[in-house]
Amino acid sequence: MAEGKAILVTGGCGFIGSNFIHYMLKQHPDYRVINLDKLTYCGNLDNLCEVVQQPNVAFVKGDIAEREQVRGILHDEGVDCIVNFAAESHVDRSIEDPDLFLRTNVLGTQVLLEGAREAHVPLFIQISTDEVYGSLGPTGEFTETTPLKPNSPYAASKTAADLMVRAYIKTYGINAIVTRCSNNYGPYQFPEKLLPLMISNAMKDKELPIYGDGLNIRDWIYVEDHCRALDVILHRGKSGEIYNIGGASERTNLEVVRTILEVLGKPESLIHFVTDRPGHDRRYAMDFSKLKKELGWQPQVTFEEGIKQTVTWYVEHQAWWQRIKTGEYMEYYERMYGNR
Ligand code: NAD
Ligand code: DAU
Repeated sequence: MAEGKAILVTGGCGFIGSNFIHYMLKQHPDYRVINLDKLTYCGNLDNLCEVVQQPNVAFVKGDIAEREQVRGILHDEGVDCIVNFAAESHVDRSIEDPDLFLRTNVLGTQVLLEGAREAHVPLFIQISTDEVYGSLGPTGEFTETTPLKPNSPYAASKTAADLMVRAYIKTYGINAIVTRCSNNYGPYQFPEKLLPLMISNAMKDKELPIYGDGLNIRDWIYVEDHCRALDVILHRGKSGEIYNIGGASERTNLEVVRTILEVLGKPESLIHFVTDRPGHDRRYAMDFSKLKKELGWQPQVTFEEGIKQTVTWYVEHQAWWQRIKTGEYMEYYERMYGNR
């Protein structure tokens, strides 16, 4: 992509989307960013308060599943690349209410793809997830050719979206790439997800609800490493390809929580085992050798360093998460953990 181009970022007010906008504006100050976000319960304009006033940043409140709105933006803005982060992203919420996941994650992606086709957008990047591959046993890693075996409604909706991208590439010849990343952590993550939930609860000496035996394994990646991978893929990735992105940091949930407690200087007695998540995937691990070999990317932030930076961020930004931990969030929290 040449300098000074326009990127349509969907879901830019969420966790990874907002980190990506910050990252791209730092790396490419001459790029224009159009951020299309519905501002659902987890979309937060506060995540972008340092950059929203910049002349090269535009915000549109809207829904990726609304055809006319998507068409209008693509018609007016001369978009060079769509990066689709917009999604319902929380597995537990997908178990409670799968319908919305289908609308946003599947229909929304198809509407964006159709818009990209009509407007001849040069590149579409679909932000997917390792969860499309399902669950691993104690050994092995997911590669880009691992069969897709999603286990939650969230993962199934992301898988359907990936397949829709494939269909648009094969049928209509659009230029598109799918990226599949492992578990992100870092600033601006909504406190329903493991790390920010545990950090914010521990800071208030509240119980830390660990599902099942706490031995489920995730491969943790610092969000800035993910953003750097996407920057590389956006500029040098090959259309039609899938790229796995991983952190090379497998940890059990118990290990993660113990590390947080150690950094905060809080006691392990806060740990509280609760009923397991239905269909809970046991282990994820990413083989990202394709991205390393072909585009020279690998993660730079170690888990220990990333956790320290993340805990410090939540300690220094209490107003950010305290504003969130009210209203709708507390109703959700009560439903989730009240009777576990
Ligand atoms: P998030 O839940 O923090 O943010 C999602 C954003 O999308 C919010 O700003 C929300 O308002 C917006 N949104 C939701 N529905 C929309 C709609 N219909 N139209 C427009 N905007 C809408 O999610 P996240 O953790 O930042 O994840 C971003 C993307 O990355 C998702 O597609 C997710 O599947 C994928 N992903 C996440 C992780 C992770 O660890 N968080 C890992 C791999 C992939
Ligand atoms: O792997 C990538 C995926 O990572 C993304 O596609 C999803 O959008 C993202 O939400 C995340 O999914 P997980 O289900 O892995 O993340 P979550 O933070 O919800 O949970 C991480 C692990 O911690 C998982 O094994 C469940 C467990 N957990 C989670 C919560 C919220 C607990 O033990 N207690 C909790 O309260």
